[in-house]
Amino acid sequence: MTRSTRVPTGAAIALAVALAAASCSADDEASGPDGFEGRGPITYVAGADSTGLVPQIIDDWNEGHPDETVTFVELPEQADAQRQQMIQNAQTRSDAFTVLSVDVVWTAEFAANGWIDELPRERFDLDRMMEPVVATGLYQDRLFSVPESSDGAMLYYRTDLLAAAGVDGPPETWAEMERACERVLALPEAGGMSCYAGQFEKYEGLTVNFAEAVGSAGGSIVDEDGTVTVDSPEARAGLDFLVGAFEDGLVPREAITYQEEQGRQAFQDGELVFHRQWPYQYSLANADDGSSEVAGDFAVAPLPGLDGPGTSSLGGHNLAISTHAGNKATALDFVEYFTSEEKQLRALREASLAPAYEHLYDDPELIEEYPYLPVLKESVLTGVPRPRVVRYGDTTTAIQDAAYAALTGDRTTEQALSDLQADLEALAP
Ligand code: GLC
Repeated sequence: MTRSTRVPTGAAIALAVALAAASCSADDEASGPDGFEGRGPITYVAGADSTGLVPQIIDDWNEGHPDETVTFVELPEQADAQRQQMIQNAQTRSDAFTVLSVDVVWTAEFAANGWIDELPRERFDLDRMMEPVVATGLYQDRLFSVPESSDGAMLYYRTDLLAAAGVDGPPETWAEMERACERVLALPEAGGMSCYAGQFEKYEGLTVNFAEAVGSAGGSIVDEDGTVTVDSPEARAGLDFLVGAFEDGLVPREAITYQEEQGRQAFQDGELVFHRQWPYQYSLANADDGSSEVAGDFAVAPLPGLDGPGTSSLGGHNLAISTHAGNKATALDFVEYFTSEEKQLRALREASLAPAYEHLYDDPELIEEYPYLPVLKESVLTGVPRPRVVRYGDTTTAIQDAAYAALTGDRTTEQALSDLQADLEALAP
C-alpha cells in the first residue's frame, strides 16, 4: 500500500525553494480552463490537519493511483502563515505546491495575481453546493477554487452547567450570556471557570471574531459596494462588547493568545461555559477516549448578538491549482476527488466538518446522529463574507491591528475604528 507522506511544516519552504531551483516550471503561462495536462506525482498543500483525516483520504487516493501519488505538505495551523508560504511558493514560480487548500478569503488575491488557475466549472457539482459557499470560489465570475469544506461559527455551551444553574436554553444576546454566566459561575462545580472565549490572538481569527462582533451588533466593515462602513455606532457597540468582556473578566485574560486550538483545549478541559468555535470542535470535544472532559455535556446554538442572535463570518477552505505546478491533469482529478460529496460526507461523519453540499444538512438520519447540522446550516447560509478584495493581506492586517489595539487597551474603540476606517479607505481600489 502506498502511504501518503507528510512533509513537516518547517521543511515546506525549503522544499519549495529546492524544487524550484532544480526544475523549471513547464507551464509558466496561466492556464485557462483547458490547460490541464500532464500526469504524475503531485502535492496537496494545506494547514495542519487537526482531524487526522487528510492522510487517510490521501492514502485511499494513492492506493488507486500508484503513478499519480499525492504527498501531503502540511503547513502551520495559522491561516496567515499558510498564506505567506503559498505566496512565497508562487513568487518563486516553484512547482513544489500543486493543489492548494486556500482559505475562502484568498480567492480574489490569488486569482488576480495569477497564482492559481481558472478551473473548468463542468468538472464539479457546483449546483448542489450552497450558493454563498460556491461564491467564495469565484473571482470576476470565473471559478478559481472549489469548496472543500465550509465553516460557520457556533456558540458551544455546557448543557450540564446551564441546567444545574436553572438557565433554560442558550443565550440569544450578549446580555443574556452574561446573566447565564453569573448563575453558572456561582455553582461550586464551576470553580475556576470563565464565561466565554473566541479567537483573539493577532491573526486571521481575530479578523473573524471582530467581524462577527461588528455584524452581531448590526454593523459592517464594508457594504455590498465595497464602501468602508466600519466607523459606525453599530461597529462601536460590537467592539465595545469584546473590549468590555476582557475588562470585566467575562473572557479570561489568556484568551488574548487564543487561536482555535488553544480555545478548543480550554473548552475541552472544562474551563469555559461558552465558546465561539467552528464545527470541527464538535467531534473532538465529544471524543470518548478521555481527551475531552466535556464529551456529551455540550450543545451548540447560533452566536449571540446585541439585540438578538448574531451572525457568523463565513469561513471555509477551497481547493485551487497552483499556476506553476506540473501534472495538472492529475491535479484536476484530485480536486474533483477531494471536493466530492462522498469525501465531504466522510469529513462530516468523522470530523464534523461543514459540507458544501446543501442536502446533507437536511437528511433526517444525519441530523439525528449529528444534531448540530441545522444550526451549522443556518450559520453558513447567513455567514457574512469578509471583504472580497485583491489586497486581502493588507486588509486583514489593518483589521487585526485595530482590533488588537482596542482589546489590549492601546487605543479606545473610537480611535481604533476611525483609524481602521482611514486605513481601509486608503486600501480601497
Ligand atoms: C477557519 C476558517 C477560515 C478562517 C480561519 C481563521 O479555518 O475556515 O475561513 O479564516 O479559521 O482562523
